[in-house]
Amino acid sequence: MDGSPIVVTENVVEYRKAITELVTAEDVVLEVGCAEGVTTALIADAAKQVVGIDKSPSQAAKAAARHQGIANLSFAQVDGYDLAAVRRLADAAGIRQFSVIFIDVSGSRKVGDVETLLVKYEQVFNPRLFVVKAYQLKRLIMRCQLCTVAGHAVYPGDNLAIQYFVLWNQHTLCPAVNHVGLAQAFSCPATV
Ligand SMILES: C[S@@+](CC[C@H](N)C(=O)[O-])C[C@H]1O[C@@H](n2cnc3c(N)ncnc32)[C@H](O)[C@@H]1O
Repeated sequence: MDGSPIVVTENVVEYRKAITELVTAEDVVLEVGCAEGVTTALIADAAKQVVGIDKSPSQAAKAAARHQGIANLSFAQVDGYDLAAVRRLADAAGIRQFSVIFIDVSGSRKVGDVETLLVKYEQVFNPRLFVVKAYQLKRLIMRCQLCTVAGHAVYPGDNLAIQYFVLWNQHTLCPAVNHVGLAQAFSCPATV
């Protein structure tokens, strides 16, 4: 499998659960769509450094005002689709690479919009992991079944084989998780 694993969540509970499960003290994290920075501040508790960006000037200003004085946490008003601006922001902060990128530019975004962001961020920052809050994307993936090619069966025994995305809910698909190397990070229910 090529590319960064993508953990797909559909609500804020799942999205924030990814922090405790997947972010480490070595991670330098970006949150795209930070709003008032509540999730970004939670990430700061777990990570080495975190930057939250939001295209809304008022949201970015509220985030900065609400979470002052936290050394490893900063906010900026940037459009998440403007990768040149995000790259400049990272450079100014001395950040070469974000190891984990959280994306929450409104959970009901169209799949294509989210995919555009994933492709751009992968090209520029090559993170070890994406965490995305995108309801429509998760619903689409849950309906998918991958075609198996003769001689290259995809995960024998799986009735839903997902190579690229990891769905995060109480029915987390453990075989898919294993394939992206996150088995240790997820708790797989016995029912799967
Ligand atoms: C659901 S809210 C984010 C909530 C926040 N992630 C949290 O967990 O508390 C979505 C945010 O995405 C921001 N947003 C929408 N499009 C964006 C873009 N292109 N770039 C950056 N932020 C964007 C909106 O301004 C809004 O504040």
